[in-house]
Amino acid sequence: MIPLLLASAEDITQNVSIFDPVSPPAESIRSLAVLVLAITAFIFIVVEGILIYCIIRFRRRAATGIAAGETEPPQVYGSKPIEIAWTAAPALVVFVLILVSARTLWEVNVPPPKPREGDHTLFVTVVGRQWWWEYTYDYYNGRRLGFTTANELHIPVSEAGIERPVYLTLKSADVCHSFWVPRLAGKTDCIPGRINSMWFQTDRPGLYVGQCAEYCGTQHANMLLRVVVDSPSDFKRWLDRQQKERWPIKNDPRLGDERVRAGARDFLSQSCVKCHAVRGTRAKGRYGPDLTHLMSRRTLASGMIANYPEGRPLDNLEDSKRLAWVTDPQKIKSGCLMPAFGLSDRETGNIVRYLLTLR
Ligand code: CUA
Repeated sequence: MIPLLLASAEDITQNVSIFDPVSPPAESIRSLAVLVLAITAFIFIVVEGILIYCIIRFRRRAATGIAAGETEPPQVYGSKPIEIAWTAAPALVVFVLILVSARTLWEVNVPPPKPREGDHTLFVTVVGRQWWWEYTYDYYNGRRLGFTTANELHIPVSEAGIERPVYLTLKSADVCHSFWVPRLAGKTDCIPGRINSMWFQTDRPGLYVGQCAEYCGTQHANMLLRVVVDSPSDFKRWLDRQQKERWPIKNDPRLGDERVRAGARDFLSQSCVKCHAVRGTRAKGRYGPDLTHLMSRRTLASGMIANYPEGRPLDNLEDSKRLAWVTDPQKIKSGCLMPAFGLSDRETGNIVRYLLTLR
């Protein structure tokens, strides 16, 4: 439907059609959409059919002597059967649509249950921000997690016999946003001062993309969503990694690189730490994305630019986009809340070297 989503970050054409659902809420929405389309298409065809028939059948024909002003068709005033028919039929149609819509709402809008041991259920708090997504992993399988990451949501795949539903608690830090991954579930708004929730689950691993679906400012169009559905073992590995604090790590060979150490010093002494967190360091800012495991994410700037494209070495410092982002984010995502700090080329290079170690 909108294949250009995320085309900027990866050369994969992503399917974002609501008619190709992979999760129960998205399936319910597809069924409702198909039913509504069928009913309205039927009405459209009947009405337009009669209209076209009348235009042709009763067009002005000079040969029969019926010209404008000469005669008028018989005028009918009031007919009980006709009026009852054209009131009852639409009322019935609307009533059916209300009933199926209510059933769909019921299926889609499931309040999150209480986490408990062995429930295979993932609970994540999502905060919409201008213009990125913050994810705090609360519980999985009854176990408290409590780490925060950004922009790329990892969830476990469901298998035959083991369902692994995901419940999202949706909030906003600034203005209204809307969380929408069309193949997984419908749109749910993130509204300041209000808590919404949604759920989905899927047995199809892979990457599902979406988009903030509520206009939220200059970079609304670049508030992209990525949901990675991992196999159970991949998901466990990802969880274990995300829960670790990263820096400083004693005896880490990367500490031997003077420029990495300099980058760490620069990062921790600049304003970076006011907005960004790196767990295990004094960078505890919560205003921008948590960078603890930055290099485990495939994109930067909420899906706008590639962090490390497939097949390219992780340590490729020549990745100019990444350097450009640290140098001046406004050039890439104008209006975003990270300013250019006027760092020298050497400082930027050092900081990027340090960031590359945050895996
Ligand atoms: Cu966030 Cu639109």
